[in-house]
Amino acid sequence: MLLGLYSALLFFASPSRAAGPPSVRLDKGVLIGASSDGINAFLGVPFARPPVGDLRFRLPQAHPPYRGTLNATAFGSACLQQTSTIDVPSNINPLAAQFLQQRANAGPPPADSEDCLTVNVFSPANATNHSKLPVLFWIFGGGFEGGTSADYPGNVVVEQSIALSEPVVFVSVNYRCVTTSLGFPGGKEVREAGIGNLGLHDQRLALRWVQKYIAAFGGDPTKVTIWGQSSGAISVSLQMLTNSGKTEGLFRAAFMQSGSPVPTGPLENGQNYFDRFATVAGCGHALGSKAVFDCLRKVPTETIRNATDATPSTSSYESLSLAWLPREDGVFLEANPQTLIQQGSVARIPFVSGDVDDEATLFSLTNSNITTEEELVNYLSQYYVKGGKTTSTVQTILSLYPADPADGSPFDTGAENAITPQYKRIAALLGDIVFQAPRRFFQASIGQAGEQKQWAYLSKRFKGTQLIGSYHQSDVSISFGGDLGAYLIHFAHTLNPSGAPNTTVAWPQYDVHAKNGAPAMLTLLDGPTAVVLGNDTYRKQQMEELVKASMQFPL
Ligand SMILES: *[C@@H]1O[C@H](CO)[C@@H](O)[C@H](O)[C@H]1NC(C)=O
Ligand SMILES: *[C@@H]1O[C@H](CO)[C@@H](O)[C@H](O)[C@H]1NC(C)=O
Ligand SMILES: *[C@@H]1O[C@H](CO)[C@@H](O)[C@H](O)[C@H]1NC(C)=O
Ligand SMILES: *[C@@H]1O[C@H](CO)[C@@H](O)[C@H](O)[C@H]1NC(C)=O
Ligand SMILES: *[C@@H]1O[C@H](CO)[C@@H](O)[C@H](O)[C@H]1NC(C)=O
Ligand SMILES: *[C@@H]1O[C@H](CO)[C@@H](O)[C@H](O)[C@H]1NC(C)=O
Ligand SMILES: *[C@@H]1O[C@H](CO)[C@@H](O)[C@H](O)[C@H]1NC(C)=O
Repeated sequence: MLLGLYSALLFFASPSRAAGPPSVRLDKGVLIGASSDGINAFLGVPFARPPVGDLRFRLPQAHPPYRGTLNATAFGSACLQQTSTIDVPSNINPLAAQFLQQRANAGPPPADSEDCLTVNVFSPANATNHSKLPVLFWIFGGGFEGGTSADYPGNVVVEQSIALSEPVVFVSVNYRCVTTSLGFPGGKEVREAGIGNLGLHDQRLALRWVQKYIAAFGGDPTKVTIWGQSSGAISVSLQMLTNSGKTEGLFRAAFMQSGSPVPTGPLENGQNYFDRFATVAGCGHALGSKAVFDCLRKVPTETIRNATDATPSTSSYESLSLAWLPREDGVFLEANPQTLIQQGSVARIPFVSGDVDDEATLFSLTNSNITTEEELVNYLSQYYVKGGKTTSTVQTILSLYPADPADGSPFDTGAENAITPQYKRIAALLGDIVFQAPRRFFQASIGQAGEQKQWAYLSKRFKGTQLIGSYHQSDVSISFGGDLGAYLIHFAHTLNPSGAPNTTVAWPQYDVHAKNGAPAMLTLLDGPTAVVLGNDTYRKQQMEELVKASMQFPL
């Protein structure tokens, strides 16, 4: 639902099929793919039983052994998307409204279906079942509300990997994301039924699929790097925290772009949204016990869609205080993510984590009717620092994030982009609450434990983008075929991003014990000096305060 930057569909514009389409044998079946420019693609391969009918709101079940011939030449449907995201509030700042309207007009949301659990595999055309190439497993972002693997051109990643002589196999997964309650339902009924965090279970099942089948495509199941952006990166981080940090051999490394363990609380923090959802779906009478799902499993898809659309999205006033989030469910997440980190329930694998400089500018437009300090205090108390007597915490935070536009986000743009007296301040705050402070907390905590290697980056590219600066998702174009992609591919091969072919700057590890007290970050800039080293010490006191507050008042 965020920026559909790419059209991977263009992949098949010029097929060259001298030797007929590529095929792969799985169990007793044969997958027929397509080949173009030296890359094979197998698309829309189901990895689970369709989560429809009685399987709606259930843990995903593995696909039965394949039989017969499967046409794997087109992407599968996106999972159900939230459609309310295209509404532009009428009462916000006119420039913000104009900007949002342009994006809403950019195109309709993708065709979607509840039957959506598929994977896609892109591999070098000459890879064989003996190649054992490292695997990049991509989890797309979209606020746990929308998005689809079809928007991401795996062929670009594989092409770059071949050009760099470090070939990889690329896998992308569709998971139940949608607010649609279908992927991340909240509330006590969900706990009772044992069906929290279904979207994360979907991803885990797809990782098991990779273990079983990826060798046939030329991949090495022992060399899987899980990689994602935004809610996809949050997902990657939570795959590291689940199961007491035991990876079960499903992956050996992780790469996160703009997403870290979110400061969320128990499932019940989503109760009021679930109540609203179930009521609009006509199942309000059954709320209070897991019997509500007997009702919800019977309603038509369109009713689920309508009920979902009655809850807020990232494009609502609530913005990043999402209705449906991964939350502690006693099963996938046995405690709040921040607590799991403190308990050391973390996969001991090498990882890379990074942010863009202006994480929340995109999410601070729909709330641009907040123009005074008092309104901002109310807003933060209502949606971000929730749960009782929070006003003094909010005051402390606001004193650390002054209203001066020169201190706000887009950072380093002086008085520019200040479309309201609070816009840049809100953008700075939300970006740090949801993205930057959780990343630093994750990296600092893991660094203190000292059991694994890690790296960090910060992208200040595209800084000149009007209104939104180095906006959320702007680093995707850098990792799909750009210089960050070169580091990523090298990391998938060697478990170290530094020294990647075609890069000039060595990328030092993130060292919390650095002599100068400053862990290094690779910093990506516009202009001729595109990559430099920076320090992960900016807004130190501010982020420490935010971490404290989010532990006390989880989302
Ligand atoms: C496979 O799918 C492609 C694209 O959707 C279609 O053109 C082709 O006819 C299909 N082949 C078979 C055997 O179904
Ligand atoms: C596949 O092609 C690449 C690039 O042309 C080449 O370097 C590699 O050796 C080939 N691999 C196999 C298994 O033939
Ligand atoms: C690998 O591929 C070859 C050629 O298609 C096939 O004969 C062989 O059975 C495959 N091996 C495995 C382990 O799948
Ligand atoms: C190598 O780097 C140059 C300069 O940054 C870039 O234009 C080119 O696309 C890169 N090639 C690959 C394969 O990454
Ligand atoms: C869903 O909402 C639309 C628009 O409000 C309405 O026309 C339609 O009847 C609703 N469908 C169901 C199944 O509730
Ligand atoms: C801003 O608009 C939303 C509706 O889009 C409304 O709920 C909220 O109260 C408004 N906030 C302020 C401060 O006016
Ligand atoms: C990082 O911090 C150290 C110690 O404060 C300082 O010497 C160095 O110049 C900083 N580097 C950058 C790029 O800001």
